[in-house]
Amino acid sequence: MMSIPLSDSVHSYASNRLFRDAGENEVLLGETPYRRPTRTFDNAFINYERPLTRGTQASNSALSTHRLLINIYEADGVFLPHAAYDGFWDDFQAFYSAENIAHGESIRHALENKAFSFLQNDVEVTGPWTADTVIEFFKSFLKDQAETRDAEANNSPVLAAILNSRDPERCAKHYLIQLAPDFLSEASAMARVAPGSYGDIQSAIFNILIDEYGASVHANKHSTLFENTLQSVGLSPDIHTYWQFYHSTSLCLTNYFHYITKNKRLFFRYIGALFYTEASLVNVTKKQSEMLRKVFGAGVNTKYFDEHHHIDQHHGEMALQRVIIPALERFGDQVASEILRGYLEFQFLEELADADLIAQFDFFERLENDRCNAEKFYHEITNGERNVSLETFVECAGERSTTHTHPDHRLLVIESGKMDFWPLAGDPLSLTAGDILFIPRHRLHGSVVTSDECVYHQPVAESETKELHQNPQSHEV
Ligand SMILES: [Fe+2]
Ligand SMILES: [Fe+2]
Ligand SMILES: [Fe+2]
Repeated sequence: MMSIPLSDSVHSYASNRLFRDAGENEVLLGETPYRRPTRTFDNAFINYERPLTRGTQASNSALSTHRLLINIYEADGVFLPHAAYDGFWDDFQAFYSAENIAHGESIRHALENKAFSFLQNDVEVTGPWTADTVIEFFKSFLKDQAETRDAEANNSPVLAAILNSRDPERCAKHYLIQLAPDFLSEASAMARVAPGSYGDIQSAIFNILIDEYGASVHANKHSTLFENTLQSVGLSPDIHTYWQFYHSTSLCLTNYFHYITKNKRLFFRYIGALFYTEASLVNVTKKQSEMLRKVFGAGVNTKYFDEHHHIDQHHGEMALQRVIIPALERFGDQVASEILRGYLEFQFLEELADADLIAQFDFFERLENDRCNAEKFYHEITNGERNVSLETFVECAGERSTTHTHPDHRLLVIESGKMDFWPLAGDPLSLTAGDILFIPRHRLHGSVVTSDECVYHQPVAESETKELHQNPQSHEV
């Protein structure tokens, strides 16, 4: 039997109308949980067989891979809109159709390999780890977390970037949006390990799961608490409203938990990652809560974060005492490295996500300052001092680019017409003729043409990075 090329299978999946490029009025995608645009045109140029690396976590191919993967994983969950809307039944059918599921499953393994195989090299589990040494290491991590419980938000680089921004509210909202793919359907991945039969460990995990689900009181479900946070700062609580503004590295965190719970062979990795997240959230959520109150004042609802600061003291302890230790006592050294691997992999992915977000905030902060350098660079191209292609585009009113990133540093030069441009979620910059921006490599952005016609140039500025940009390292993931 002839096998179908992977790129064709990706195309078959992504050509579902729900996953096609965003239309003119789809900057936000509120009423439907099913509409999740990818950039189907770009997909044709992505090699899905080539694994992502540490340095390409914020690339367009990472963005595409993680958008596709979360769509595949989330078809395992029940997603319904808060209210019925025209076309709901058709969308519901299209998202959960046997054909969509089959197409997704046909590419899932390859996409998982592309997304996560780099961890095998980049996260080293060296040394002769045993059940005892892993337990000791985890106990000391819990102790460290308890001792640094009162650290301030400024001690987290990503939260400090928000607090020190020229527009902290905007950055804080963009940050909350990055948490939404995980928090608005919180613990869905954990629910994947509820079935089966594995003794008291199973019941301990179920105990944590029940807490995440508010012990069946919907108002106390953690996702409901997060909806309240979003609403309190004027953001929509509807799932994936801000789909276009999710970074690939944020989607990666959610997808990682789906990956290690969907594939039961990774169960021991999962419990290591579970311990890390439950134990570290105690501190993280306290700082997040403090940052939100500093930025938004008394009006912000921080119960989601305050509740985690409280309950994750128990969850970290439970994950260690009732999940990790019994598993290591029963299965011994053979699972020790795998449990530690889950802990280290998720910790590493969080570091990458934080670095990516800091780079995005830095891009936003520098838009004005970089403008002078960008203008100088552009004039050198037009003078003939630099031999760089202008890369000219002519687009019509309403033409939209689904948010994306570029593999190289580029200028955006508006020659005529108007364009709305988003460097972060929120109000766009209105660009007009003569405006010039510098868009660093891997920085997420989107645009829509708002005049009858817009002529613009996107010359590559990569090789001249150092001249154009004072601190290019800050843009590396
Ligand atoms: Fe939670
Ligand atoms: Fe928890
Ligand atoms: Fe672009």
